[in-house]
Parts: sequence; structure tokens; C-alpha cells
Amino acid sequence: MRSVYIETYGCQMNLADTELLFGHLGSHGYRRTDDPAGADVILLNTCAIRERAEERVVGRLGDLVRYKAHRPEVQLGVTGCMAQHLRDTLMTRLPFVDFIVGPDAYRRLPELLGNGAGDPQVDVRLDRDETYADLVPQRERGVRAWLTIMRGCDKFCTFCVVPYVRGRERSLPAAAILAQVRQLAADGFREVVYLGQTVNAYRDGDVDFGALLRQTNAIGGIERIRFTSPHPSDMTASVIAAMASCEKVCPQLHLPLQSGSDRVLARMERGYTAAAYLDLVERLRRAIPGIALTTDIIVGFPGEDEADFLATCVLMRSVRYDSAFMFKYSARSGTKAFKWPETVSEEEKSRRLQAIIALQEEQSVAINHALIGATTEVLVEGPARRHEGWLAGKTPQFKTAVFPANGASPGELASVRITEATAHTLVCAAA
Ligand code: 5AD
Ligand code: SF4
Repeated sequence: MRSVYIETYGCQMNLADTELLFGHLGSHGYRRTDDPAGADVILLNTCAIRERAEERVVGRLGDLVRYKAHRPEVQLGVTGCMAQHLRDTLMTRLPFVDFIVGPDAYRRLPELLGNGAGDPQVDVRLDRDETYADLVPQRERGVRAWLTIMRGCDKFCTFCVVPYVRGRERSLPAAAILAQVRQLAADGFREVVYLGQTVNAYRDGDVDFGALLRQTNAIGGIERIRFTSPHPSDMTASVIAAMASCEKVCPQLHLPLQSGSDRVLARMERGYTAAAYLDLVERLRRAIPGIALTTDIIVGFPGEDEADFLATCVLMRSVRYDSAFMFKYSARSGTKAFKWPETVSEEEKSRRLQAIIALQEEQSVAINHALIGATTEVLVEGPARRHEGWLAGKTPQFKTAVFPANGASPGELASVRITEATAHTLVCAAA
């Protein structure tokens, strides 16, 4: 049996795609290994969202090629978004790469691998219909399972390469999703996280995302339902109502903002204004009390001046996010904004980024401190990493909580009292 090693870069969707690749290759006689040194096939499942992500992969490929020096039969390949985005660069700069396979061509991977040595095997065709609905991912046993329910994106935000590398939006059949969730429950999983680039744009005939949440809520054995990442424009009344009425859907939402300036939002073609976003936040907070909100923010988009940046800070203060992922703008070839001159220097981008990181840290600490004394329910995942003899898991709001081991096993719910808090962790005691 040939062995395959896969290293994953980027988002949760890529981690889920890696499980899909292991499943698909597994059914074609490949065995999974965690050691690149002994692997027959080495795969990097890559990300193209920012330049840094691509640089890391190029560097890593340079390291991994040494395994081919001892064993020339080893096959080295690039899958995922960067395969799609940088096919030509990869082929010229890294001629030792044996295959380059985009996100819609995974089905062909066993065949391409079987072709053996020679010219690089390349398949980066996008396929508007490919959902891999019939492939069975190979997951590690655990408490939480990720399940991709839609692929691609039709939004074309001007900074983003995703629609070009992952192609058009398409949803899996609801029946296939619900069958998989039932199987996950039977396999011992207690939490399911629905994934999609714009997950709440999900639609299968009459079944919109709100309806899918309601049908999932009825599946026995599953205790918690989450999803990521929704787009603010697809946060319909149906989805909000489903979140409010389904007891298993967790009070937590990652709601990418990108910028708090209307001028920048318009140039990003995000499809909402700051006021509309704030109105959505208000409706969410009214419908789902205690909901935790997190976000993505980009600083230094072409044309972003000091007033635009301050508008982002103002919006962060009025929403008070529980946490945030914050990035410097990175120009991506193929996107609309790539053609626009960059107006914010690297130093200024760094200054803005540091400023909002500090602001967010302050708010995260304040929000979590206000929770001290409250009780909460933790879905136990296993031993805590930094506290010997403690357990760790997530609260309904998806905050990491640690508490002294009380005999609870992974997958069980534990009621705990919050005694200390940092920006990123809640320290708890038995309730
Ligand atoms: N530069 C910087 N950040 C980006 N993101 C997407 N494209 C870019 C880019 N070109 C960020 C957005 C998105 C998150 C997944 O990555 O904030 O929500
Ligand atoms: Fe990219 Fe915008 Fe689509 Fe998100 S919604 S994946 S930021 S194009």
C-alpha cells in the first residue's frame, strides 16, 4: 500500500478538504501517514488568500524536495487554492513538483498519481457542479466534525481571490448533508460545524440555510451546531429566526466586517454599509441574547485614508467583538483591486494593524472579565494543553474554557463557573 502525507494551509475549508482527500485516496489504496520522511506521496493543500500564505508554501516545497533526493520515486504535489492561482509560477519556479491539482479536480487525484514520473500532472479546471457530495471524508475521531455544505463564492469582493480559485457557488443536496450528520452522530461526534465560503448563501431548491439549520436541529445525538463563514448580506430573517429558535445552534457568529468605512466598503464591493451592518448586529443581539460576535478586518486597502481607518475603529468600538482576525491588505493577481495602485505604505499598514490588534485585545479582555462569576456549559474535548490535570473545551459562545478534571469524558457537557479570564481563555471551577 502506498502512503500519503498531507500538510494543510489556510482555512477550515482546506482542513475539511484534506479529510476528503484522505478519504478519497484511502478508497484507492493509499494509507495515511503523519511522517513525510517515509511517505510515497507528499501533498501540500494550499491557500492563496494572502501573499504570505503562498510564500510559506514555496519555502516548504523547497524543504520537502530533499526526500526525493534519497527516493526519486516520491511524488510531491500541490493541491488547493494556490495550485489554481499560481499554476504557471509553480511549474517554472519549482520544476520538481510532480502534480498540481485545483480544488475542483480532487476526484482525479488517484489517476494523476497513477501516471507516475514524467512531466508534471496538472488539473486546475474549475467545475461548476463538483460538490464531492458522494465522497466520504476520513476524519480523526473526536467531538467536533467539520462538514462542507457549499463550495465556491459568487460575491467577488474586489480584494479576494477566492471566487477565482474556488469557482462558482454551489450547494450540496440537503438530503446528503443530513445523512452525513446522522452518520457523524452515530460515529460519536457531538458537534457539527457547517462550512462554506459564504455558508449562509446555502440553497438546495426550497431548502435555504435557515431550513437546513432547523432540519439539523432535529437530529438526535448532535448537541451543538455551528457554521462559518456567513456573509452579512445573506444573514436573512430566516437564518436569524432559525438561530434564535433552534436550541442546538450555538449563540455565536463570525461576521466578517472588512472595513467600517462606507467609502472603502463600496470599493471592496461588500454589498452593505456600516449602518446596515450595525443594524444587522442589533437584530442579531435582539433575537439571540448573549450571542458572541467575531469578525475579519483588513487594513490598508487601496485608498484607505486615516478617516476610513478611524471609521473602522469606531465600528469596532460600537460592535464590541469578542475577538477578531485582522490582516494587512495583500494584493492578489486576478482580482479587481490588484489593478489599483497601493496607497498605504507597508509601515502604515503595520501601524494600523497594531492599533486595531491592541483595541481588540482591550475589548476581548473586558468582555471576558465581565463573565467572571457566571456559569456556563463546556463541551469537553480533552486534556487542557497548558494546565496539567485540567480539561478543556468550548463554551456555547465558542470560547476556550479550562477547568480541573472532574471525571468528565470528551463529548460530555460540563457545567462550570468562570473564575478568571484572559482575552483568549476562560479559567473555570466546578459549578
Ligand atoms: N488581503 C488581506 N486579507 C484578505 N482576506 C481576503 N482577501 C484578502 C487580501 N487580499 C481576508 C478577509 C477574509 C479573510 C478570510 O481573509 O478578511 O474575510
Ligand atoms: Fe472572498 Fe468576498 Fe467571497 Fe468572502 S464573500 S470568499 S471575502 S469574495
